Amino acid sequence: MGKKMSGGKKRGEGKKMRIGLLGCGNIGRILADAIDREEVDCSLVAVFDQDIERARELATQLRRKPDVADSIEGLLQDTDLVVEAASQDAVRDYGVKVLDSGKDILIMSVGALADEALFNELTQLINKTGRRIYVPSGAIAGLDGIKAAKTKGIDSVELTTRKPPAELGTTTDKETIVYEGTAREGIKKFPKNVNVAATLSLVGMGFDKTKLRIIADPDVNRNVHEIRVVGMFGEFNIKMENLPSPNNPKTSYLAAMSTIATLKEINSAIQLGT
Ligand SMILES: NC(=O)c1ccc[n+]([C@@H]2O[C@H](COP(=O)([O-])OP(=O)(O)OC[C@H]3O[C@@H](n4cnc5c(N)ncnc54)[C@H](O)[C@@H]3O)[C@@H](O)[C@H]2O)c1
Repeated sequence: MGKKMSGGKKRGEGKKMRIGLLGCGNIGRILADAIDREEVDCSLVAVFDQDIERARELATQLRRKPDVADSIEGLLQDTDLVVEAASQDAVRDYGVKVLDSGKDILIMSVGALADEALFNELTQLINKTGRRIYVPSGAIAGLDGIKAAKTKGIDSVELTTRKPPAELGTTTDKETIVYEGTAREGIKKFPKNVNVAATLSLVGMGFDKTKLRIIADPDVNRNVHEIRVVGMFGEFNIKMENLPSPNNPKTSYLAAMSTIATLKEINSAIQLGT
């Protein structure tokens, strides 16, 4: 991940980075709103959603109206960077197309990258096209520390995710471990609850060495992630207690905020952290 802008332009040179938004749900709306209020120095040029009414509704709510694309090709037309805020299927269906067409992609549905074949295909395309994949920190903190720690060696990365039972598709009146094992297997079993495990695996020790525990807990009303990392540097423990997004209780608000922060970072002359 670096600071070079899409299309080989230097920062501050020429036009603003042109964003195409794939997915006009909760994260997409929060990001579109931030760009519209000029919180982020980019232009939102087009929006696309499998539910075209959602895309139209979002476009009408913005001061600067983006095009409403009716296909991925339409979304790609005048775009430098596609922000995927849709689903793992969208990454599988469109990720290759985006990079192959010479555009960068920011991926929020990170769980899709646990699929080794897809991951390899995307990384080969990066090497071939010189494009970039951005993966925001999403709903967690601590990736900066893991990146630094990794340079001299990490011994273990453990994630314990605690959610209200309904979010894990279960009912229980007491704390219950619903999964314990590798991040790779956990992602297969709980595809809708695993973006954090996927991001942690990509940054740290990989999908097969990252330990994941998922707990259904009737006493929590928010998503809680506890991360423990041990290595040559010592040890750190981080506890996230994430409030839900205003429009989607399943998505932590911080995840949407991290999309905004990543776009700011891409535009920034100073690289802070790590
Ligand atoms: N990286 C993280 O830490 C993190 C955290 C929270 C959510 N997420 C992921 O980000 C994504 C977006 O989250 P959200 O809360 O905005 O979801 P959402 O359900 O509110 O919105 C998703 C939107 O994308 C559209 N969509 C889904 N699949 C599509 C496809 N194949 N083609 C076109 N449009 C499609 C839907 O119609 C919907 O409008 C989800 O996959 C979610 O799991 C990641």
